[in-house]
Amino acid sequence: MNINPFAVEEWMNAYETGALYNIAETCVDSISLDELFSLSGTDKESFLSRLCSRRLTYGAIEGSPELKNGIASLYRTIKPDEIVPTHGAAGANHHVFYSLINPGDTVISIMPSYQQLYSIPASLGARVKIMHLKKENGYLPDIDELKRLAEGGVKMICLNNPNNPAGALIPQEILEKAAAIAQSCHAYLLVDEVYRHLTQDEEWQPSIVDLYEKGISTSSMSKVFSLAGIRLGWIATHDKEALKQMWSHRDYNLISCGMIDDAIASLALSAKEKILERNKKIIRENLAILDDWIQKEPHISYVKPHAGTTALVYYDFPVDSYTLCRQMYETCGAFVTPGDCFNEPHSMRIGYAADKDTLIKGLHAMSTFFRSLEAGKAGSSRPSEA
Ligand SMILES: Cc1ncc(COP(=O)(O)O)c(C=O)c1O
Repeated sequence: MNINPFAVEEWMNAYETGALYNIAETCVDSISLDELFSLSGTDKESFLSRLCSRRLTYGAIEGSPELKNGIASLYRTIKPDEIVPTHGAAGANHHVFYSLINPGDTVISIMPSYQQLYSIPASLGARVKIMHLKKENGYLPDIDELKRLAEGGVKMICLNNPNNPAGALIPQEILEKAAAIAQSCHAYLLVDEVYRHLTQDEEWQPSIVDLYEKGISTSSMSKVFSLAGIRLGWIATHDKEALKQMWSHRDYNLISCGMIDDAIASLALSAKEKILERNKKIIRENLAILDDWIQKEPHISYVKPHAGTTALVYYDFPVDSYTLCRQMYETCGAFVTPGDCFNEPHSMRIGYAADKDTLIKGLHAMSTFFRSLEAGKAGSSRPSEA
């Protein structure tokens, strides 16, 4: 199977572990098990002793009741048996396409977005039509354009809400209009909701599965719950045929998610209010820091995010984004993602949900780098950590 290289993941793999100030990361400042025990008020010894006494079988093949009840509680209408646990949201998106898309199917997807949403269906032989999200439209889907793209039929429409990289939040009325278009074609509407709940304002963020019968939500413990290390995600849908296909295909590529990951995710979901409170505080305080920095920097601009953990920031230096980001990494230690990974030239994605100290130092390093560009010389040696 041929597939295009995953630009953002290749970039992260190459540089992430050596970054001095990693502000390319998209998870809300990851937590340790000790922090999880403390946030959830769990007795560490008794949790670990229970876990250590269990034989390491495949565990609950379809996910433990605690896990599925916990995930179901994130939705308004989803029942535990309408959830398919997967290996992260990456596994969830892949599994949706692998289970439901055939060669020759038409799929509508968006750009800029997470590349899985267009490159996987293309690799499976689908005809992928791209809807470009425009800066001047706040990166929201244009419903008239979606209607035009859906003419002639479509098997699946893919959205990402909140959006990575731009941080746009699709309002309920636009989701409903997209669902009406999908319904008129009997199409699935897949929404990657891995950043759901990470809003800047205190409002309920609807899921597509609570608005549309053939809506499919994918998500995980990685971003919202700061637990990417357990690789646990899920697919939620009411659609019985889709569930049947996904359970059937799952026997071939997953079997179970592993009992240790299941137990840790279940614990985190039982403490979801506490973790969400922590993480919303981080993204809100950190976006204020980023926004303040953006206002003061003369060469950059952005559409301020409404949700998620990332911002797409444009610059006016006459250099392509890979070169700019590589030079910045090498000379100042600030690590961000080139906009070209998302087909957005002259921009970069900043992940602002890192710990506050890293964000502040990273932005400071970027300013130093911009000053060297203004002076016509990018610095040549990388500083040691301050
Ligand atoms: C929009 C989106 N979907 C899915 C994923 C994959 O997340 P996970 O760690 O749950 O596999 C990411 C990770 O960056 C993402 O940004």
